[in-house]
Amino acid sequence: MNFRQITAAERTATMFPLQAYAFMPSPWTAEDEEAYRGRMRFFETTLTLIAEEDGQALAGVAALRMRQNVRGLVHDMAGVASVSSHPMARRRGLVRELLERLLRQTREEGCAVSALYPFRPSFYARFGFVGVPRHRTATFTPEGLAHLLRADLPGEVERLSMSDGFAAWQGLQQQLLTRRHGFAVFDDVRSAEFREDEYWVAVARSGGEVVGAVRYQVDRHGGDLIASHLLCAGSLGRALLLQFFARHVDQVAQIVVRLSTDEVPELWGTDMQVSTEGSVANPTENAPMVRVLDVEALAGTPVGPGAITIEIPDELIGGVWQLESAGGALTVAKGSAPSVTLSAAGFSALVYGVLDPVEVVARGLGSVPAAAIPTLSTMFPREMPYLVADF
Ligand SMILES: CC(C)(COP(=O)(O)OP(=O)(O)OC[C@H]1O[C@@H](n2cnc3c(N)ncnc32)[C@H](O)[C@@H]1OP(=O)(O)O)[C@@H](O)C(=O)NCCC(=O)NCCS
Repeated sequence: MNFRQITAAERTATMFPLQAYAFMPSPWTAEDEEAYRGRMRFFETTLTLIAEEDGQALAGVAALRMRQNVRGLVHDMAGVASVSSHPMARRRGLVRELLERLLRQTREEGCAVSALYPFRPSFYARFGFVGVPRHRTATFTPEGLAHLLRADLPGEVERLSMSDGFAAWQGLQQQLLTRRHGFAVFDDVRSAEFREDEYWVAVARSGGEVVGAVRYQVDRHGGDLIASHLLCAGSLGRALLLQFFARHVDQVAQIVVRLSTDEVPELWGTDMQVSTEGSVANPTENAPMVRVLDVEALAGTPVGPGAITIEIPDELIGGVWQLESAGGALTVAKGSAPSVTLSAAGFSALVYGVLDPVEVVARGLGSVPAAAIPTLSTMFPREMPYLVADF
């Protein structure tokens, strides 16, 4: 078995048959293959690894070059995607070997963290990943926002094609990357594909600054306005975008929009009738998962007061680590005599703020003596990340 890195140009001959069989209706057509080839310019910076035997690719994995905010610190992130193996080559450990190589290489190239959308979370739990929230979807009639039609807000919304609105939409994402825990963005090469999307983008501005943006489509007259994530820099951006939605009152029956878990749409208006759903299902609707690839790279992360020495048994981040808050910023040093043992997933859950130490223990992701629980809870308080990028 030969394991090797391939270029974007090589992906069509090697990865396409594996991915098409795994993720698309099949048998696929020559047009499907051509469309894939046409997209490969957006994968020039993607790290792709394959396992091949007698010149045939049997399995492949990839890492998209991304950046992510974790508790206020922005890191290079490996966005794991395109994980697939030939049906006759499954359960031979090929994807395990490829994923281990991929995570090692991305870590060596500077990625402190990794994220992915699993087909089945337990598969990636073996590789140290832990779940973070899936977005919520709010569905409501524009009537609930009628009060906003009369509101005089200090700003305006422009409806643009994705190609015209791309720069503003992308600029807001870069802004949110620096401000929002969990937020992740693609590099310029990968994100350029969004410019060609057949979406509208509503861009909210105030004083010339972009304060909100949302991609959307309208499915039919009297149908749904289906929006992607409601991206806003604050309440004004949200109010401007909701006012824009309200203007569709006699055009569409419903607005469907993606939200972070901390949005509470029933508070958007007095008469809001809304259904907010967070539905998770294998294999296509899963919540994303994340993991830390490099403990030392976390130095400087804003944390609560405290100091603790932990042991992590793991290929990538294994060892005994002395973690301490120095004036609210994490310091990391090699340590000895750990008081706590955490799996890579358990440690990642605390760093990302998705589980508290009691839950980490209850989930079998570590062993934490009672005396260490308050320190870990204070240093890594719960804080829900919002991962928006889909890959
Ligand atoms: C999922 C998939 C990539 C696994 O590939 P594979 O080559 O069979 O994986 P491996 O043989 O390297 O298995 C790695 C480990 O996961 C386990 N595993 C494999 N498939 C699994 C499954 N469906 N559920 C749970 N565990 C699984 C293996 O037993 C092995 O465990 P071990 O290392 O502890 O022994 C492959 O089945 C596939 O292409 N499926 C369709 C596409 C898909 O779902 N891709 C994932 C997108 S996120």
